Amino acid sequence: MQLNRESFGEDFHWGVSTAAYQIEGGHDADGKGPSIWDHFTQRRNKIYGNQHGNIACDFYNLYQEDILLMSRMHIPNYRFSISWSRIFPEGTGRVNQAGVDYYNKLINECLLNGIQPWVTLYHWDLPQALESKGGWTNREILNWFECYVAFCVQQFGDRVHWWMILNEPLVFTGAGYFLGVHAPGKKGLTSFLSAVHHAALCQAAGGRIVKSMQRDAMVGTTFSYSHVEPWRNNEKDQAAAKKTDTLLNRLFIEPLLGMGYPVADLKILNRLEKFYRDGDDMKLAFNMDFIGLQNYTRELVRHAPLMPFIRARIVKARNRKVECTQMDWEVHPPAIYHALMRWKQYKNLKEIIVTENGAAFEDFCINDQIDDLKRIDYLKDHISQVLLAKQSGCPVKGYFVWTFLDNFEWAEGYYPKFGLVHVNFENRKRIIKNSGRWYTSFLDGNILSDIS
Ligand code: GAL
Repeated sequence: MQLNRESFGEDFHWGVSTAAYQIEGGHDADGKGPSIWDHFTQRRNKIYGNQHGNIACDFYNLYQEDILLMSRMHIPNYRFSISWSRIFPEGTGRVNQAGVDYYNKLINECLLNGIQPWVTLYHWDLPQALESKGGWTNREILNWFECYVAFCVQQFGDRVHWWMILNEPLVFTGAGYFLGVHAPGKKGLTSFLSAVHHAALCQAAGGRIVKSMQRDAMVGTTFSYSHVEPWRNNEKDQAAAKKTDTLLNRLFIEPLLGMGYPVADLKILNRLEKFYRDGDDMKLAFNMDFIGLQNYTRELVRHAPLMPFIRARIVKARNRKVECTQMDWEVHPPAIYHALMRWKQYKNLKEIIVTENGAAFEDFCINDQIDDLKRIDYLKDHISQVLLAKQSGCPVKGYFVWTFLDNFEWAEGYYPKFGLVHVNFENRKRIIKNSGRWYTSFLDGNILSDIS
């Protein structure tokens, strides 16, 4: 079997993904309000090296050059997110026109260069003013979010066809409101479960709003998915794997698909009831045009009797002596195949777009060249698995590399390098890595390898 673009068909969407806080910088430029990430990164010892995204890749100022670079790399689709507090500095109410102008310019620049903009409405940077009122734990978020979504559709909907409501709700509720390792740094089951329920309501509400205001829009939302397997083939590890899989991979997608929360396989989710209001069951469901799959790895899980709530723990890839990325994530290409084939079984799921997949490896810049072979292999192997799933009947319709530029990788700061394009964080100079050249060549239709 040959790996080339043609095997996926002409209507397959190829692109790259980014997120506002990770690349834009301009943290207080032209009237932008602070977000929870502006706040969180000011706290000591929360982020590797106490780094922050105040300037990041300076995409706020350099977007024209970057979009031009993207078009020179023949990338046809660009997924980016809108920073909510650039548009509404206090989260709701007063509009910052300069923020609106910025996204208008960015969208226009994409279109001028023949690149389709794919817009994520929420990629984790909640306005700090809303966090002061409880953020995702406050049910009022439904109103704040609906106003924000409606405003964006009204402003940009004449040019944006592809919308995504939330980015990986499990990660921002889990890391941000349970573990406290991401913004806003809250901990505990109560804040987690309330944030979960409100995010699940918002993803559906956002979809309804986009679709009601823009009939021909393609609306979706994105989920993280890590293929889960038991560490050993015994009953206890299997039970642990099932609970972990329920939490990691089913908690948000199943209510959206009208199946309700997967309470039967994870009892603790019963406690979500506390946050329910009449009619919520119906409100959780919405028939999206597509669902975004974001996969990087698999997890092996073992029984752990002392672990509260789920009696399971992940066996770290580092301790398994397998090939890992800088994130300590195992390189395991079949994981994306399993994820796609699992989603294929969901009845109400129309189309799947892989909205993120990619790898962080240390890069070496020698004479302005970055020969990142490992990243090329990773991409090649994962794209091959996507093709395999497609050929097995999975309705997968697109693939976006995470990510375009080396960037601010949340709690990990700047050390993990995920980009197809290297960024020198001293002078913001960009250099296309060999993986970027590889992607261009793939997009140009070249046969890049024979796969078995
Ligand atoms: C995702 C997230 C991205 C990026 C990526 C790599 O969870 O949506 O923003 O950080 O992981 O870690």
